[in-house]
Amino acid sequence: MSYADTERKYAFEVYPKRDLTLVRGEGATVWDDTGRAYIDCTAGVGVANVGHANPQVAEAIAEQAKTLATCAGIFYNDVRARLLEKLVAISPASLTRAFLCNSGTESMEAAIKFARHASGKSEFVCAMRGFHGRSMGALSATFKYRDQFEPLLPGFSFVPFNNIDKLRDAVGDGTAAVVLEPVQGEGGVRPADPDYMSAVQALCTERGVLFIVDEIQTGLCRTGSMFASDRYAISPDILCLAKALGGGVPIGAVLTSERVAPAVGMHGSTFGGNPLACAAALATIDYMQEHTLDRRARELGDYFAERFREKQPARVRELRQIGLMIGIELKEKATPYLVALMEEGVLALSAGPTVIRLLPPLTVGRDQLDVVIDKLLKVLSA
Ligand SMILES: Cc1ncc(COP(=O)(O)O)c(C=O)c1O
Repeated sequence: MSYADTERKYAFEVYPKRDLTLVRGEGATVWDDTGRAYIDCTAGVGVANVGHANPQVAEAIAEQAKTLATCAGIFYNDVRARLLEKLVAISPASLTRAFLCNSGTESMEAAIKFARHASGKSEFVCAMRGFHGRSMGALSATFKYRDQFEPLLPGFSFVPFNNIDKLRDAVGDGTAAVVLEPVQGEGGVRPADPDYMSAVQALCTERGVLFIVDEIQTGLCRTGSMFASDRYAISPDILCLAKALGGGVPIGAVLTSERVAPAVGMHGSTFGGNPLACAAALATIDYMQEHTLDRRARELGDYFAERFREKQPARVRELRQIGLMIGIELKEKATPYLVALMEEGVLALSAGPTVIRLLPPLTVGRDQLDVVIDKLLKVLSA
């Protein structure tokens, strides 16, 4: 039986699968079980920012696995302490503490609890097309994928993204927090307008409402700065992080301002803050800083956009590019083009029915990006 057949037989399948079995990766290249190479513009859905099998991260994981892989949160730990310090150092100035967990949805789950605890309120205003995860709390803040699972948490409302008047109308006396992605990822790679974000910040400050920023997809150099929040005049109270943080090892984090005070017993996680994931995250952030991946994402993303726009095929409605977070909105369904790209040796994602999304490792070579552009132009012009 092939690996695909084995998965088909035994998996509790929840994913629309592609007919491809990946077995190895290096940098921005992945290989299937027949030895064919692909340029990976999925990066594990925005995880492998430092490249697949990054040697610095692999070394750190191996060393830590031989030293201490697990350490409950009731004890202090050397590696965890170093990661907490590093996270606060690189994050927006308003954020001074971090809670460590294991995934994006867990980080949003914790953010919702922390905001309710800090504010004493239970309502959240979120954005249409927003995506924050699939556990019941995070799903309550998510615009799609909810129908089959209601009732979800009460008190969540949705307003159009980038519309400050609608947000102002929605924020009330019971509002604990406003929840936004700086660039909506799953929702189609849609960046927030700088004026909108400034107005959201002003509104939150004026009404005493917490501002939760979901940087799970945008964080850690993806958009050309360490955090997408750095591009805006905002001081978030809570910032959620996961995906790229562990260089492939599962880890999430919730960064909080002093307004969001912790209390012993309010939350916990067996694996949260385990030294193995912390060592991977420290090595990942070190690599990003040593190789200035923020600048690299900015430069390569701008290069991509310039070259793509020169010959933009007629079936493209719009290119939206922020660093190496790229959305190509088509005038038709994206899936056939994702399949055609795969046949050409390029793996890409969708973001809604008509958007091709590219999230390559930020270590991708300019020559590899040239191939991606050529293949995109080829399949989109066919
Ligand atoms: C913005 C955003 N928030 C939350 C999540 C959920 O993260 P996870 O899949 O790690 O639970 C995602 C995942 O795609 C995301 O893009």
